[in-house]
Amino acid sequence: MSPAAQDSTNAQAQIELHRELAPRYAYRYGFPFSRLFQEDWHAEMIGQAPGESRAILDLGCGTGFFLAELARVHPGAVGLDISHEMLKVSDQYIPGAKLVTGDAERLPFKPGAFDAVFCKGSLHHTRDHVGFLENCREVLSPEGLLVMSEPCNDNPLIRFARALLYRKSPHFDEGDQGFTRRGIIALTEAAGFEVTRVKRYGCLAYVFAGFPDHLGILRFVPGNTLLTRLFIRLDRLICAIPGLAILGFHVVIVARPRSQRTG
Ligand SMILES: C[S@@+](CC[C@H](N)C(=O)[O-])C[C@H]1O[C@@H](n2cnc3c(N)ncnc32)[C@H](O)[C@@H]1O
Repeated sequence: MSPAAQDSTNAQAQIELHRELAPRYAYRYGFPFSRLFQEDWHAEMIGQAPGESRAILDLGCGTGFFLAELARVHPGAVGLDISHEMLKVSDQYIPGAKLVTGDAERLPFKPGAFDAVFCKGSLHHTRDHVGFLENCREVLSPEGLLVMSEPCNDNPLIRFARALLYRKSPHFDEGDQGFTRRGIIALTEAAGFEVTRVKRYGCLAYVFAGFPDHLGILRFVPGNTLLTRLFIRLDRLICAIPGLAILGFHVVIVARPRSQRTG
């Protein structure tokens, strides 16, 4: 199969997968402890972009929970997602948001249109990773910033658990794979970016508070928001210690188009 045909088959598969997942996301973000964790994750990403960034894109914005927080800091932030069903849920978080149903592999924006592009967990759903990142660079201004968070598979145990889950669960696509820290840096650089920051994110809070639709144990634990707060603090410590940071489930990458330094 040609790469273009592969891309369109995957795009269709993602639309179908996320049609089923849309109600699960609404359920996931319905618990205070889960929202607390997600909000900390979002703050970690949003804090990377300067406050004066005006035109913001959330690429693969899903149900718009992250976009709502982005828009509080950067009013007018735009969200794009391939799944119309996911976007439909966003009305409850950010009514009247600027939303586009579209494919990250064919972005309908003018070159240089954005000061910052955020991608939270969308890159690994695509097959042409460098192409996706090149599209991000294309729509960024020369001074723009890319902020991504993607599944990190440096830890062999995490890699194994993810592979098993993605293979066995109907809520994942086996073709969606996480990245190694080194691998995602190489892809980002290959797409013409200079990587300025790389940080692991999420461990205990990610597992226990992040996905109550998959692992709901915290729902039954009294004081689950306090516990989540504690997990978040522990995770920060873990991810800051060289040698332990490999326990992080995600990696947050910040990058700038390379031309702004070289040209
Ligand atoms: C793991 S979800 C993350 C959603 C959201 N960023 C969040 O954190 O809740 C990945 C999202 O990427 C979207 N997606 C997958 N492939 C895409 C593509 N080619 N173009 C745009 N969005 C895509 C999916 O529809 C889904 O909403």
